[in-house]
Amino acid sequence: MTAVRLGADGLAERTGELAALLADTVNGGASVGFLAPFGPEQAAAWWRGRADAVADGRLAVWAALDGADRVVGTVSLAFAFPGKPNSRHRAELVKLMVHRDARGRGLGRRLLTVAEAAAADAGVTLLHLDTETDSPAEHLYRSAGWTRAGTIPDYAADPGGVLRPTTLYYKHVGAGTG
Ligand SMILES: CC(C)(COP(=O)(O)OP(=O)(O)OC[C@H]1O[C@@H](n2cnc3c(N)ncnc32)[C@H](O)[C@@H]1OP(=O)(O)O)[C@@H](O)C(=O)NCCC(=O)NCCS
Repeated sequence: MTAVRLGADGLAERTGELAALLADTVNGGASVGFLAPFGPEQAAAWWRGRADAVADGRLAVWAALDGADRVVGTVSLAFAFPGKPNSRHRAELVKLMVHRDARGRGLGRRLLTVAEAAAADAGVTLLHLDTETDSPAEHLYRSAGWTRAGTIPDYAADPGGVLRPTTLYYKHVGAGTG
């Protein structure tokens, strides 16, 4: 697997593949912000809506490519600047997804490592995220050294529309680990 950071052009080129990945993830039952059924057209519109943030650096998006140059996973970092001058040290890890056909082979862990390293390189010292409580992702975050901050009941609806609890995690990276 190769993780490639996508600029605005790369995001546009890969929108179809990223949309297929997002639709697969939602329709597979993962809680990443959407309700099922979720079609590739809706997913593509959502990715196109990220273009401005990618272009101006508020959002960093990586695509995991397999040996045939196909997108099999993604992860993004949402930086807290420029709107929050007191939060330049902080970023949110969002939309970590691996295609259902490619799970369980270490891609999710590798994407997480790439995003954490890039955050540290960008001067970020604190990462945070939220994830559905008891989801497979929780095991990954805990084993990668993330700290559980707490759980909020009924925080978000899963793709089937049922309200589920969400657990918040954080991790110090780069200079924040010293
Ligand atoms: C979470 C996700 C990205 C993990 O991707 P992946 O490529 O399968 O993960 P990896 O193969 O790198 O496995 C990472 C760890 O999670 C564990 N894991 C993976 N799937 C699991 C599952 N269903 N149940 C329990 N643990 C699981 C692995 O065993 C591994 O731990 P280990 O190294 O201690 O054995 C993937 O399941 C996914 O895309 N889920 C849907 C989207 C989602 O929920 N994203 C998180 C939003 S916050």
